Amino acid sequence: MIVKVLDQKTPDVLVVPVFQDDHLATQLSQIASQIGVDAKCLEQDFKAEAKEFLLLYTNAAKTQKIYLAGLGKPGRMSEVRAVFRSFAYRFQKKLPAKVGVDLRQFHDQQLSQMAEEATGGMLMGLYSTESLMGKTNKEQKFGAAKSELQILVGAAVEKSVTHAVSRGEELAIINMAAMDLVNLPGNYKHPRLLANRMLKLASAYGIKAKLLEESDLKKEGMDALLAVGQGSPHPSLMLWLEYGTKPGKKSKTPVVGLVGKGVTFDTGGISIKPSASMQFMKSDMGGAAAVLGTFMAAARMKLPVRLIGAIPLAENMVDGTAIKPGDVIGSHSGKSIEVIDTDAEGRLILADGLSYLTQKENPDTLIDIATLTGSVIRAIGVNAAGLFTPNDALSRSLYDAGMKSGEQLWPFPMWEAYGSDLKSDVADLKNFTGKPMAECISAAKFLENFTREHPRWAHLDIAGMAFGDAEHTKAKSATGYGIRLLLKFLEGLVEKGAEE
Ligand code: BES
Ligand code: ZN
Ligand code: ZN
Repeated sequence: MIVKVLDQKTPDVLVVPVFQDDHLATQLSQIASQIGVDAKCLEQDFKAEAKEFLLLYTNAAKTQKIYLAGLGKPGRMSEVRAVFRSFAYRFQKKLPAKVGVDLRQFHDQQLSQMAEEATGGMLMGLYSTESLMGKTNKEQKFGAAKSELQILVGAAVEKSVTHAVSRGEELAIINMAAMDLVNLPGNYKHPRLLANRMLKLASAYGIKAKLLEESDLKKEGMDALLAVGQGSPHPSLMLWLEYGTKPGKKSKTPVVGLVGKGVTFDTGGISIKPSASMQFMKSDMGGAAAVLGTFMAAARMKLPVRLIGAIPLAENMVDGTAIKPGDVIGSHSGKSIEVIDTDAEGRLILADGLSYLTQKENPDTLIDIATLTGSVIRAIGVNAAGLFTPNDALSRSLYDAGMKSGEQLWPFPMWEAYGSDLKSDVADLKNFTGKPMAECISAAKFLENFTREHPRWAHLDIAGMAFGDAEHTKAKSATGYGIRLLLKFLEGLVEKGAEE
């Protein structure tokens, strides 16, 4: 699809977004008089609720159909994207090859924001998991190669709008690429296959990438990562990513380390999961997809930051060679771990990722992102991811980035007491307290042991956010959560640096 910014309306179908605010009545009466219908009727039938759509036929000029798109009360921009996404998804089969979005009523910063989110939403609404398995919909006109999304703005097309539109487009493409990785069936993405897909994406975005093979992991002592994959015929791997050049001693360029959980399928191992819903555990690499997506976004936006990424990849399987409850394993940090529950595997592979990354690069900020526990879902549901960090300033910055991006975070306490139950009789630590309480916090406390006492580390538990119910699929589906959040956070760091 081609996305254009135009100052004249030529499309056959026009989408007019409408906020539920003080201007609603005036806006509706203007539209009514333009197309020659009664304003009172229109007001009665359209309240501009979020995701309320009304089709109006018109013979004014070239445009034959106008869709009013309710945006609800003005609030978060991510909600505007959700409305456009819903619109494109619901009406895609009826839309012609040229569709316009009328933004002529908006100005300045609001116009740029609307342009970004309208573009992103319209593109993401066409996302389908069917194309993932090679199916294409040839009959559909809107979304086909030469079809056009026209963003209509006032007479002078401003540079800032063109920029916003291309940002919306790029972010949608990256978001959907991450969704593809997460939606992919487990047998299409065991560690080697997923690594190959990620290497391809990294190279397309000009990101430096290197794959650590099983033999490298052995040499480096990443025994915890190796242990998780030892029951699988597909050995564990680690993908290493770098973006931006190493800053000099006096440079203020922020250096951020990102570690993403890449369990390509989580059966639970010998501590096997119940079979109901186990298919959703193909999404246990949502953190890995978020890390790669953040690199892709930073590269596309040419963000002045340096990023280091470590993505441990493993398949957690049930086998004669698999780790067993009670086994004691080593780790990159040198600390030994008693594996109480083989289903608490994410923290094992992250432990090696965190320890390896800090030893190699020691970034200013260290963040891991992972579908780590069911416990975080029981605690706060599917409206926010869990935020775990002993650093209050980092907590605030990440929280703010969550609010701004619409990918919300909610903080949990990290008091010492939560880590005391991780003591083991036979090893330095055990991977599960054995107590069915505050599991998402004790998981975070476990990880803290492998950060080499990094002063600015945060763990994001995205178990409830990476995969969920969506309009466009019957079963649950990927969200790409984390990319927009981490991009906002990085942009915040850049801004802060510029202020100093
Ligand atoms: N991958 C799961 C966590 C998960 C659950 C992600 C639901 C997405 C949706 C993780 O590896 C796991 O199994 N965690 C266990 C830990 C427990 C054994 C301490 C859990 O949360 O039950
Ligand atoms: Zn597990
Ligand atoms: Zn898992």
